Amino acid sequence: MTDRTHTAAVNGATGAPLWLLAELTYRCPLQCAYCSNPLDFAAVKEELATEEWLDVLAQARAMGAVQMGFSGGEPLVRQDLETLVAEARRLGFYTNLITSGLGLDEARIAALHAAGLDHIQISLQASDPDVAAAVAGSPKAHARKLAMARAVKAAGYPMVLNVVLHRHNIDELDAIIALCDELGADAVELANCQMYGWAQLNREGLLPSREQLETAEATTARWRERLAAQGRDMRLLFVVPDYYNDRPKACMGGWGAIFMTVVPDGAVLPCHSARILPMTFPNVRERPLREIWYDSEAFNRYRGDGWMREPCRRCDERHRDVGGCRCQAYLLTGDAAATDPVCSLSPEHHLIEAARHQAEAGERSVTGLTPRNVHESRVFCRR
Ligand code: SF4
Ligand code: FES
Repeated sequence: MTDRTHTAAVNGATGAPLWLLAELTYRCPLQCAYCSNPLDFAAVKEELATEEWLDVLAQARAMGAVQMGFSGGEPLVRQDLETLVAEARRLGFYTNLITSGLGLDEARIAALHAAGLDHIQISLQASDPDVAAAVAGSPKAHARKLAMARAVKAAGYPMVLNVVLHRHNIDELDAIIALCDELGADAVELANCQMYGWAQLNREGLLPSREQLETAEATTARWRERLAAQGRDMRLLFVVPDYYNDRPKACMGGWGAIFMTVVPDGAVLPCHSARILPMTFPNVRERPLREIWYDSEAFNRYRGDGWMREPCRRCDERHRDVGGCRCQAYLLTGDAAATDPVCSLSPEHHLIEAARHQAEAGERSVTGLTPRNVHESRVFCRR
């Protein structure tokens, strides 16, 4: 009996996790006001040690996980990153590094390459250095990111860039895509900011208006045509913000369905944001990963559709979108079992409409956003 069939037999319909996201640290040199890390990250003191992470990787791979993301905070802050990458690769994971590019240099790229890292994604804040500096809270980061994007490509990796869009940079999308083109990017994710963590705190100052969004979509479409006409292979992925959809996303492919996140202190979550929910999450320092995945109350609470209420309970679409996002439902309604208010059938959809309405009127200055940093996090912890 294979590992996978054994667990399926023991645990009924629950399949193995496919994705492991290792949030190695909450430390980060930048202060992006849309960071998805928890507001109280400063309360997390003790990160898992190298040996503990190595054990997490081995356990996850033995359970059947095949995709592995290293993120944070800034994962390059961890000096054992190369060790972890090498072990993940040896175990047979496909490995991704999700980074700001700060902490990277040619020597470190070579070391990660030698360790077997498969894929690197670098984030950019803007094309305009001033906007980038204001959003990241660092005047030097932008130039460094551009240099590292080039260095990653020179090392033989595809250049994969991620740009988080919001009301302060979305109007410069044409220049952003032009910059990515000039850099020689192979793929660009134009991901409108999703409202979790610090982004939720700053939502009023980040959500674009519908007009901004439609202009950005048209700009992306024009660029796709231009690139195709030139025979230039640069993929543009445009991710619409949840707040402008009428149906929610099938968040994480379903709660505890394929995805697990291990955060810096060893807590295990079904998604990167779940720590905000009023429930206790198990920790790899206390329980084996397999037991956490299959048997913990936290991972089972929103599996399947038995937990759903009306209107989801009898909705034909419930298996397509799994009732949306539990974190978003909680952040907006205070009830994690509520229908995601993004859905136009939700009795709370007016909350989304109110946020859209507010975005029409809001100001466009980048000042006034609360930066994601230790000081602000401590202020939040004291509340
Ligand atoms: Fe999805 Fe629930 Fe909306 Fe139906 S009512 S579309 S299941 S979120
Ligand atoms: Fe947590 Fe969607 S982000 S369930």
